Order: sequence, then C-alpha cells, then structure tokens
Amino acid sequence: MSEVVHFSRQGPVGIITVDYPPVNALGPGVREGILDALDRGIADSEVRAMVLIGAGRSFIAGADIRGFGKGRRSPTRRTHDALETSPKPVVAAIHGYALGGGLENALGCHYRIAVPSARVGLPEVLIGILPGGGGTQRLPRLIGPEAALEMIVSGRHVPAPEALKLGILDELVEGAELRDAAVAFAMRVMHEPVLPRASEREIPEHDPGIFEAMRKKVARRARNQKAPWHCIRCVEIACSTPFEEGIRQERALFEELENSEEAKALRYAFFAEREAQRSPVVPRGTPARPVEAAAVVGAGTMGGGIAMTCADAGLPVKIMDKDPEALARGMERIGKTYAASVARGSLDEAVMAARLALIEPVKTYDAIADADVVIEAVFEEVGVKRDVFRALDRTMKQGALLLSNTSALDIDEIAAATERPEDVAGAHFFSPANVMKLLEVVRGERTSQEVLASVQALAKRLAKVGVVCGNCDGFVANRSRAPFNTEMIILLEEGALPEQVDGAMVEFGYPMGPFAVGDLAGLDIGYAGRKRREAADPTIRPLPIADALVEAGRLGMKTGAGWYRYEPGDRTPHPDPEVAALIRRIAGESGVEQREFDDEEIVQRLLFSSVNEACRIIEEGMAGRAVEVDTMWLYGFGFPRYRGGLMYWADTIGVRSVYGRIAAWHQRYGERWAPAPLLRRLAESGTPLKEAASDM
Ligand SMILES: NC(=O)c1ccc[n+]([C@@H]2O[C@H](COP(=O)([O-])OP(=O)(O)OC[C@H]3O[C@@H](n4cnc5c(N)ncnc54)[C@H](O)[C@@H]3O)[C@@H](O)[C@H]2O)c1
Repeated sequence: MSEVVHFSRQGPVGIITVDYPPVNALGPGVREGILDALDRGIADSEVRAMVLIGAGRSFIAGADIRGFGKGRRSPTRRTHDALETSPKPVVAAIHGYALGGGLENALGCHYRIAVPSARVGLPEVLIGILPGGGGTQRLPRLIGPEAALEMIVSGRHVPAPEALKLGILDELVEGAELRDAAVAFAMRVMHEPVLPRASEREIPEHDPGIFEAMRKKVARRARNQKAPWHCIRCVEIACSTPFEEGIRQERALFEELENSEEAKALRYAFFAEREAQRSPVVPRGTPARPVEAAAVVGAGTMGGGIAMTCADAGLPVKIMDKDPEALARGMERIGKTYAASVARGSLDEAVMAARLALIEPVKTYDAIADADVVIEAVFEEVGVKRDVFRALDRTMKQGALLLSNTSALDIDEIAAATERPEDVAGAHFFSPANVMKLLEVVRGERTSQEVLASVQALAKRLAKVGVVCGNCDGFVANRSRAPFNTEMIILLEEGALPEQVDGAMVEFGYPMGPFAVGDLAGLDIGYAGRKRREAADPTIRPLPIADALVEAGRLGMKTGAGWYRYEPGDRTPHPDPEVAALIRRIAGESGVEQREFDDEEIVQRLLFSSVNEACRIIEEGMAGRAVEVDTMWLYGFGFPRYRGGLMYWADTIGVRSVYGRIAAWHQRYGERWAPAPLLRRLAESGTPLKEAASDM
C-alpha cells in the first residue's frame, strides 16, 4: 500500500486516509495512492461505501505548488473522475482545509460533510491559474453559476457553515468525531439506489448576464492578467456545454495559464513571502517568548491601528497616551473605524463588541507594566522616544519585548535609553496599521535573536508578514522607495503631469497612482521630512514643485486640493489646470528642458531608481536577500503581485538592460543615478536580480 495514503475498513465502510504531512497537499504519490485505495475498496465485496479523509491537521489543502510549471504529463486517470464514477458511494470528510485540488476531489465524491471550523475554496486564481481538476465544471452544477463564479474568481476561503448553505456540503458534524460521523453517514447512504454525481446535475436557473457583470466587476483588478478572465470563461462554458466537453476546455485553458508570466510571478511571490519570513540572521528553532498581553504607547493614528490589529487577533491590549484628550480621541477613532466596517457589512456587530472589549485605555506606565510586549507609537522625535523607553525600562516586567514603531529613527539610539537594549527592536507597521500586512522587524546592534524570533512570531499571530531588516535611515521598505518618490517629482519638472504619471503606474498594475496616494496620505508629512533632511544635508536634491504645492496650502484630499482637485465629499481626483500651471512655471524658472514621456519610461524611471537603491541596501546587509525587498513591496506598497515583486519584475526586463539604462541616466542626470556596485556585478555576471544577496 502507498505510504502517503492508507486504506482500512470499519465494518462495510472502507476508509481512505491521506497522510502526507503537514497539510496533505497533493504531492508525489498522493493521487496514485487515492486511486489504489479506491480500487481496493471497489474490488472488496465486503465494502459497501467509502470515506475519504485526511490524517493530521487537514483534509487535502491543495495541489503541491512546486509541481506547477514542471511539464508534468496530464494523468490518464484523474482522481476526481475516478471518485465520481465509483459504483460505491464515497463520502468526503473535511476538517482543516479543502482547497484547490482538495476541494475538487471532494466535489468528485458523492457526499461531503465537514466540521464547522473547516474551510473550502478554489484559490487557484491567486496563483495565476484556474481550478483545472473539474472544479469549474462541477461547482456551478452544484451551487449554481453565480455563487460558483464568485468563489472561483475571488479565490476566497469559504467557512464550512456558509459552504453548507451554498450547497457544497451535505452536513456539518458537530459534537462527534469526524471519522465516526463520516462512517455513520456512509452507512446511512450505502443503500441509496442512485448516487448523486455533480457532473450529472443540471445547471441551476441563472441570469445569463452574470458573466458580463463579473467581467465588468473585475476589469480593474484583473488588468494585465489572464487567470480571472479564464476562470469566468470556464464557468460560462459549464453553463453551455456538456460536462465532458467542459472538462476538456477547462484543461486546455488551464494549460495555457500554467506557464504564463503571471503564474510564474505569482508562484515566485508565494515562495518569496515564505522565504522572506525566515531571516538568515535568526537561526531556525530560536525560541519565541510567549505573548498573551500587549500594550501600545501613543494613541494616535498608528497607535490606534496597532491596538486594533492586536484586538483583531484576539490579543488583549492596553493603550496609553500622556494626553488624556488624545487617548479619548484615539478610542473614539477606533470605535468609528470598527463601526464603519459594520456599516459596510464586513464586520459582525458582536465581533466588533468583542474586539472593543479587548482594548483598554489606560493613563499610566504602571497600568501596562505586566504586558508581554509594548509597542511605542509616539511622536517621531528621538528625544521623546528615548524618554518613553526610559520609562518603559523602569516599569515593564523583565522579559517584555520593547518595540518602537519609528519610521526612520535609529533603533540603537532608542535602545541605549534602556538598561536592556537586547530586548529592544523596531516593529515598523505601515499605515493604516490594521490593514497593511507588512511589519518590518528592525534589528538593532544589540537586539537578541530571541527577541527577533519573538517579534516574527508576534507578526504571524497578528496576521502580518514580518520581515527582519537592518537599522538604517528609512529601514528597507521606505528607503528603497525614497528615490521613486523623488523621481516622480523630477518627472514633472521635465514635462510630465501628475495624471500622466499616475495613469502609467495604474496601467502597470498599482491600484492607485503615486500622486493620488500622496493626496490621500497628506502632503505635509513628506514636506516636513524633506525640510528636515535638507537642513541636515545640503547635497540633497531640492524638489521645488512639491514644496510650492504645499506652500500654496494644497495638502491633499483633506484640504480639497493637492496634486489634484477634489469636490466636497468626493474622493475622486480631478486633474487641475492650476497644478499644471504651477508645474510649468517652476519648471520654466529652473530652466529644465521640457519633453514628452511614454508610459514605459515613466515606469522604468520610478522603479529602476528603487531597484538601484535596493541593491545598495542588500549590499550593506540591511536586507539579506532580494526576496525580502520583493515581499516588502508587495505588502507595504501595493506592488502588483502578478509582477512578482520589484526585483523579480526588473529581471523580466533583464539585469543587463536595467544596468545599461541606469548607467545612461547616470551620465545624463548625475550622481543620484550612480549604479550600485552590486548591480554592476550582477549585470557583469548575468545573475538575476532576484538572486541578489548580501554575501555576493
Ligand atoms: N502615520 C504614518 O503613516 C506612520 C507610518 C509608520 C510609522 N509611523 C510612526 O508611528 C509613530 C506615531 O505616528 P502617528 O502618525 O501615529 O503620530 P500621531 O501624532 O498621530 O500620534 C502620536 C501620539 O503619541 C502621543 N504621545 C506623544 N508623546 C507621548 C509620550 N511621551 N507618552 C505617551 N504618549 C505620547 C500623542 O499624544 C499622540 O496621541 C511615529 O514614530 C511615526 O513615525 C507613522
């Protein structure tokens, strides 16, 4: 018998157990093992029905992603078909996850039951492919094309109770062992004269307009991608084509996607994200300190967002502010943010109440002394932060993690205010902290490995992607982004307009253009930072257009005008002739030659400047590997995932071309475009940027 699939018998019920840790992915031998076990059950005259179940944590969590794109031959006998054509009923018994190929096999079974905590879904679209194991043909027959379309195009995980309502599941198992319940279920159905087979069901009545409506709905998000469109097409095919023919077309469309550029990029992003969270500077197995209670100091924008993040993860959190009014305002903002989610329908009222109950406003350091972790989010001034850390050092219990949410200050300087610098690290959340998934874990000179491992574990608990990085100005994410922010203003000096730059970046795949994002965030923060840096370093390139805009009182959406003009109560950016005039006036004064730009040049000017800086960052060891930079860009800046990440994308142009372009701009624009030595070496040896590492 197979090592990864076992067959046993309980009375007249044959039990097929997939046992391929950790999550029973459809790895090598699993499909064959299921087929062998099924054949054995069919051949055994004592067996009247069968159960398909997973050992350990899960049913079948999905395909083995490493197997995609490796030129596998399509098997002659496919498990979902074999399960469905079995003359004896097969019951899928689901706990943990039934995703992708896992759910497709369950759909091949005649019945499906699950524990309430189970989740099912067809998330293939998220890695640039489609459910190619009959999923797009069986699911619409089972639950109707509209619901199937929504599930397949979103790729979302559906909780078992909802799956029951939709008709994916036949029964929820409560108060019994899943396996026992499945055997009992099988005994009940083994005498049924006709087996329910999804492929034989008629497509339920539906509105034929749903496909066009879905195409319209995803048009923006699915820009430059094929998979969402192919997913829609497959469900449409299911509604107009006999099952066998539908399966053939599903397969053909799947094969078209499997090796597409987007699928490769999405697979890269999937693994990069995992890799990035395993920092080479934190040895595997480093113990993490337990965290059962958290505290936040500073109840401003970030402090409030961080407190919500803790509550969202079920972690009790105390929030402290030196200013009682700021504390009250902070709590009010938290309440309003949750209430808005309830009003939108994305949060349950009871869940909101439970989360609010986890957030306790407090006024003193003594009140937070017992917390296992404290995250400081006070004003961005090193003196203020050092005072806070001095107070934390005096009051916090031994072993507490002392973290700062500073955006750019020196973690070592902050840690030096305490007697326990080994317990101090940066925990740089991105705004809005309860939404953005990136958490930069900043390693100070003396931060212990145990503390880094603990902050990474905390990140996981908070559903964040925690990436360890070095302690330099702006850390890794913002530092690699900074030249992009400069270059986008310089493009205006040379003749481009904000709406043109934004248009190019949206076409590239960003959800919003960088100027519109600036207006949303407020332009005064960048202005203040720029003035500070210019005062400290006279060699910094001034950005007179950006300065003039802020000095004219255009601070962004909050003042009704920034790079764009806004109508009261409306967030739509309207191009503003006044801004165009301001730009041309200042460009004229500075004597910069005006010219036309095409989209490609805009995209490359902005992103190559960041690629170059990322090479410096890696060379200095502030980031260990390109996967870390790429993961930060995906989760910190909304870089389009189907382009893999900043460095991966640059490789699609080619390291030598990137270098050549940067070297040419160095000639033309001077020092700010000096190629990073690591970039030059990579180009000389033809090594892809995605393989860049600090020990090269
Ligand atoms: N806003 C962002 O986009 C963003 C993003 C990442 C990181 N950060 C960083 O987060 C930190 C906080 O930023 P913010 O935007 O939330 O600021 P904010 O001004 O909204 O809030 C700061 C809060 O800290 C309180 N505070 C000040 N001194 C204090 C003290 N000594 N003890 C207790 N409370 C004190 C203030 O009363 C205020 O409520 C900064 O270090 C900032 O650089 C901000």
